Amino acid sequence: MNIIIEQTKEDASQKAYEIFCEAIENGAKVFGLATGSTPEMLYDKIIASDLDFSNAISVNLDEYVGLAGTHPHSYQYYMKDKLFKHKPFKECYVPNGLNDEATEVARYDQILEEHPIDLQLLGIGQNGHIAFNEPGTSFDSLTHKIKLTESTIQVNKRFFVNEDEMPHYAYSMGLASIMKAKKIILLAFGEEKAQAIKDLATVETADEAIPASILINHPDATIIVDAAAASLIK
Ligand code: F6R
Repeated sequence: MNIIIEQTKEDASQKAYEIFCEAIENGAKVFGLATGSTPEMLYDKIIASDLDFSNAISVNLDEYVGLAGTHPHSYQYYMKDKLFKHKPFKECYVPNGLNDEATEVARYDQILEEHPIDLQLLGIGQNGHIAFNEPGTSFDSLTHKIKLTESTIQVNKRFFVNEDEMPHYAYSMGLASIMKAKKIILLAFGEEKAQAIKDLATVETADEAIPASILINHPDATIIVDAAAASLIK
């Protein structure tokens, strides 16, 4: 696992953008994508570029259970709004929050089986989650339904106009599926991510209490942080 510290979020997003370009030059066609505030600047850079994704496939990490893809707070809506409507992909997959658990888990695992991910983009939660794999999730996990922790609910409810509307469950790609990606980039910005980055940077053995720590066992994982997120590891 390689850690790159950039001064600003802008510099870190630029670095991630360059890794995207390089992966595309090397033939990457299937992109694992994330939502949240972290990837927004990278998506803006992709939109402003002449990169062509019309033959590419995207597979997103997660979705809130109970939200239709048309709901403005669903991750499917986010992806359309922040990326796909500006930069069309050939096929875009996001978990379906309206499906029952058995149907969705089987459907998404099949999608992942059929479309091995070339480049996976990740953010990180303040509690060390990646996708919605909360602390304690098995490193062997595939797609699953997860109860969000109180910490994640507190952090993410800011996105909801009516905070009580925030679902408490999500469908998430599992940690074993994330580890199958050929190449992984994790981005983290801001002081509120500093502890999670310190935990990840200093862990000696991957530990299910720190979901992101599984990345220390990946052959090609790069963590790109701004100075604030790196403030506890300098
Ligand atoms: C989103 C996802 C989450 C976020 C994480 C950080 O698809 O999988 O793991 O990456 O919660 O969220 P932000 O970027 O909003 O700080």
